[in-house]
Amino acid sequence: MVISNATVIAPTGMQQADIVIEGEQFVSIERHSRMNHLSTSSEGSQDVVDASGLLAFPGLIDVHTHMRQPGGEHKEDFYTGTCAALAGGITSILAMPNTSPTLVNRATLDMALDLAGQNAVCDFGLFLGASSSNQRLKLEDPSLRECGLKMYMGSSTGDLLVEDFGAQYEHFLWYPHERVIAVHAEHEPAVRYFGARGERRPVIAAEVEVARAVAMAGKVGRRVHICHVSSQREVEIISDAKRRGVPVTCEFAPHYLYLTHEYETGASHAPYALQPGSLYQMNPPLREKTDVETLWAHLDVADCIATDHAPHTLEEKYGLAPPSGVPGLETMLPLLLTAAHERRLMLPEVARLCCEGPATTYGIRKKGRIAPGFDADLTLVDPNDEWVIGERPLYTKCGWSPYAGQHVRGAVKQVYVRGRLSFVDGKVVAPRGTGRRIVN
Ligand code: DOR
Ligand code: ZN
Ligand code: ZN
Repeated sequence: MVISNATVIAPTGMQQADIVIEGEQFVSIERHSRMNHLSTSSEGSQDVVDASGLLAFPGLIDVHTHMRQPGGEHKEDFYTGTCAALAGGITSILAMPNTSPTLVNRATLDMALDLAGQNAVCDFGLFLGASSSNQRLKLEDPSLRECGLKMYMGSSTGDLLVEDFGAQYEHFLWYPHERVIAVHAEHEPAVRYFGARGERRPVIAAEVEVARAVAMAGKVGRRVHICHVSSQREVEIISDAKRRGVPVTCEFAPHYLYLTHEYETGASHAPYALQPGSLYQMNPPLREKTDVETLWAHLDVADCIATDHAPHTLEEKYGLAPPSGVPGLETMLPLLLTAAHERRLMLPEVARLCCEGPATTYGIRKKGRIAPGFDADLTLVDPNDEWVIGERPLYTKCGWSPYAGQHVRGAVKQVYVRGRLSFVDGKVVAPRGTGRRIVN
């Protein structure tokens, strides 16, 4: 199959090219010329997709999602969640272990892997959850098929929490050093202290715990990945750690780049499409305009942008004890393409942050690049399609978006997973269960 005359986006630049796919892999990327085009069509045995005017990204890899299965199927499951991923141009997801039950041992992890294998329409990896008693699990059972270890150093949705220094440190010591520990870094005593006073979680809760995670990684000499960096202070700490050679990576999330706390607190004149309030409650919470500006100014500190897709139903979000989190799989790429149109970042930067960076961070060897020998995961977008979020149907089971009403420029047109056309003309066409576990 040939994807002809696309503008291929890579971290290093952009070029007009014909992308040749055989089976599940890319086999060559050739500079586009009319001659190429004619010769391929005349062969007759090849399918030619005319991608003139479209941008071709490597299929996006979202390293932070909550699929809610098992236990939260009323708000998402592996099928609806991965359909939403495809609609957002994402061909691989890594999913978090804060399900019910939590994925903290072989039995629960294997059960969730089976559910994902039966239902996913894009490729997937699942995190093992760190608990206060499973520090030696991977050491004793290296055949576990997790994509990484997720540690909640502060509490959030679900029951996972490793608060004590000792247990945290043992995970840092004993989980294989070359594999990734991804951390939700908010200092639990601070979370409790401010929570008891009815206050929002402040930046210092994140600041203290990010510093702790960096200190432990530096001391032990191991990898650590900081999830959803939300504030200026976190950026400063991580940037400083990287300069000192600490093996730390991090991800930014769209909500901290596009929204401020006013959406939750209703304190000023945010362009509300939805009522301000609990819909926008999340952990860590939305921050100040200065934090948003710092994140945009320091995209170079980020290794990935990841959605932290955290679906909850509107009923739950408007209820008496609203859970934290917002969905994001279907909106990340359109929002970034809009920012690219506005020259807030360049298209190659999108490929670095959403494709190659995630693959490098998690050691996913055959994904994240349009290059010979790589999985033919491909996202074709029309950069000029203008639309309003919320006007096109959403695949996420929770059925809403915190960006509803926002005007965006750029839309996903076709998505291929390992060479298979999986999303086209707004429809998921991949059969349930065609997603495969990512080996890293
Ligand atoms: O807002 C959040 N929601 N933060 C988290 O850390 C977890 C997530 C969820 O699972 O709902
Ligand atoms: Zn988190
Ligand atoms: Zn999360």
